[in-house]
Amino acid sequence: MRMYDIIQNKRDGGVMSDEEIQFFVDGVTSGDIPDYQITALLMAIYFQGMNEHETSALTLAMAKSGDMIDLSGIKGVTVDKHSTGGVGDKTTLIIAPIVSALGGKLAKMSGRGLGHTGGTVDKFESFAGFNTELPPEQFINQVNDIGICVVGQSGNLAPCDKKLYALRDVTATVNSVPLIASSIMSKKIAAGSSSIVLDVKTGSGAFMKTLEDSKLLAQKMVDIGYSVGRKTAALITNMDIPLGHAIGNALEVKEAIETLKGNGPKDLTEVCVALASNMTMLVTDKSIEECEKMVLGAIADGSALKKLHDMVAAQGGDANMVDHPELLPLSNHIENVLAPCDGYIKHMDAEKIGIASVILGAGREKKGEAIDYSAGIILKAKTGDLVKKGDVIAEFHTNLPEKMKSAEELFLSAIEYSNKAIDAPVLVYDIISKPSK
Ligand code: URA
Repeated sequence: MRMYDIIQNKRDGGVMSDEEIQFFVDGVTSGDIPDYQITALLMAIYFQGMNEHETSALTLAMAKSGDMIDLSGIKGVTVDKHSTGGVGDKTTLIIAPIVSALGGKLAKMSGRGLGHTGGTVDKFESFAGFNTELPPEQFINQVNDIGICVVGQSGNLAPCDKKLYALRDVTATVNSVPLIASSIMSKKIAAGSSSIVLDVKTGSGAFMKTLEDSKLLAQKMVDIGYSVGRKTAALITNMDIPLGHAIGNALEVKEAIETLKGNGPKDLTEVCVALASNMTMLVTDKSIEECEKMVLGAIADGSALKKLHDMVAAQGGDANMVDHPELLPLSNHIENVLAPCDGYIKHMDAEKIGIASVILGAGREKKGEAIDYSAGIILKAKTGDLVKKGDVIAEFHTNLPEKMKSAEELFLSAIEYSNKAIDAPVLVYDIISKPSK
């Protein structure tokens, strides 16, 4: 088998056989296929696409390219959740304790933030002492003991995807539905949970900028999940606006705690209730209405907040910070950002706002960089709000005061105003919970 022939066939719109897909995945993982041939094939896939069978075969081969996590030692139904990434997306911190309080088993591997999007592992590490690197036995034991554990992704989970993703990132081949679907689902399948809920973000802060592409991606991932025996559902949610008001690790943790107390922002609460209800439905097989009641109940009776407390304590973190969020890291410099004019906020570019918070120290531009857990942005106004010139529209938190000005310039350029009232944005566009055939 020759890579040249595989590239030529895909370039001309042909279908890859299972053997060719396995040959490609093996060669990428072992390092035998040079980067120029890998990227030529990625570009051919970008333009020609892949059919359903090819996408499933690529996903499964990538999942098996490294460790397949064995969760068979966990008693109960394991359920995982994945977001395609966004700004202010702290949903895992809220949903995982809720679903665990309702009996789902959350054995979760999460990532760190990169670029304009944050990462769940960094957010949890805002709790002093919180350990996200547990040995596999401790990971399983904690899930059996308290129903929930969140760790960083194992180094050898889907190594083929790791290599492909790094190459896609620098060759303009990220935004391809079969490549994103196989990348995400290979990691979810290797991570072992029997049911999966996907939060497919759509809009300016997301990989998928249009609703049409997001639906296509969501359906592809649900199809792949079912084709390998995992119950899978996908929600398509709005990432044209950052979710909630807080952006930045400790600030988002504080907002998550408030949401678990029932005092969270309306948009964040609505998206979390929808995601948690769909996860509970996969775990319990009850109706969506019953699951929604159960989710609201776990917030109202404090059991979800207690679960977060137990989890932080079990992973060596300072659980006192859950009871007293004011103990979480706080920046030395907090400044208000003012509206430059009167008007309704018509649009917020979530990606630019995410980058502004990275400038303040909340994120990393390169892998492995240190981050400042306390840094970030609190939005005081969001899309649809009417503001007057000089009103406070955001609060910037940083330990790098010299960065305030450039972050503020970028932030202000992210916001468009209108003199006409704006309709309330839709938060959950669609739910896809069945395979397409
Ligand atoms: N997230 C992933 O893990 N892979 C992609 O291709 C895009 C987003």
